[in-house]
Amino acid sequence: MTAIATDAGVLALEAAPAQGRALAPATTDTPDRRLAQAADCAARPVLALSDIALTFGGVAALRDIDLAVAPGEICAVIGPNGAGKSSLLNVISGLYRPDRGQVWLGERAFAQVPTAELAAHGVARTFQNLAIFKGLSVFDNVLMGLAHRVRAGFLRQIIGSPLARRIEAENRAAAEDVIGFLHLGDVRERSAGSLPYGLQKRVELARALVARPTLLLLDEPFAGVTLSEKLELSEHVRNARDLYGATIVLIEHDIGVVMGLSDRIAVLDNGSKIADGTPDEVKADQAVIDAYLGVAHQDVTELAV
Ligand SMILES: Nc1ncnc2c1ncn2[C@@H]1O[C@H](COP(=O)(O)OP(=O)(O)O)[C@@H](O)[C@H]1O
Ligand SMILES: [Mg+2]
Repeated sequence: MTAIATDAGVLALEAAPAQGRALAPATTDTPDRRLAQAADCAARPVLALSDIALTFGGVAALRDIDLAVAPGEICAVIGPNGAGKSSLLNVISGLYRPDRGQVWLGERAFAQVPTAELAAHGVARTFQNLAIFKGLSVFDNVLMGLAHRVRAGFLRQIIGSPLARRIEAENRAAAEDVIGFLHLGDVRERSAGSLPYGLQKRVELARALVARPTLLLLDEPFAGVTLSEKLELSEHVRNARDLYGATIVLIEHDIGVVMGLSDRIAVLDNGSKIADGTPDEVKADQAVIDAYLGVAHQDVTELAV
């Protein structure tokens, strides 16, 4: 399985520079060529990792990781504590610079993704340790997800102008939209910190979704919530893909909860990717059973959604 996914990643990476053909003069742009380009485009991963390695002191957090995530895919990365899941997400979002390897966001490759430009590249994320402003209302938390759109200095200059009013109206409409979408309307004026933990996680998801990211990175969105909240949140994650068109990389400790949600599951163990395939393939993979599933068996049967 690993080989299949790795091949897909490598193929996709090799195909990416060829996208330059889209700039060819119009005279060479035959219908066949346009069809071929459209097919290339459909196959191009939203995210690809090639040969990523990361160490902390002597500890290898990630070893030789290849991964390609297709448009519209929900890809779960699972593995036991310390497997390297958060490190992987931190490499994708530029918080960590890998010792080796490249991160491709669409057609662009980075040795280290520039964190400050993440939103501009259509990437949004949530954190393993909830990152919301507890003293702010739900609505204002969601608005914060759009704060990157206009520089504060520019906003100060245009304050009170028709342009400023238009930007604010658009941002508020986008926030209302995602609040409705995630069924947060009843608590929109409540301070986020006063809500049950599962709802706070949902507020964080709303803040990440409001900018309509192409790629949404979720670090353990289901950790610490009750089973019914887990099921609800899974549905919201699925809707984020189906209705908002986001490609999703979901880090999760619990294999059971991702079985019914993910199109593909990559399994990390001790910094290495030991499997990568459909939920059924991963469930039947001997290396996964040996390293992980034996222990997590109960989760699988209880929590499949
Ligand atoms: N900032 C860091 N400094 C030192 N070691 C780290 C750091 N981040 C992660 N690690 C180490 O890298 C390994 C993988 O950790 P992590 O990516 O957090 O795993 P997971 O999210 O799968 O539980 C662990 O051994 C962890 O101690
Ligand atoms: Mg983690």
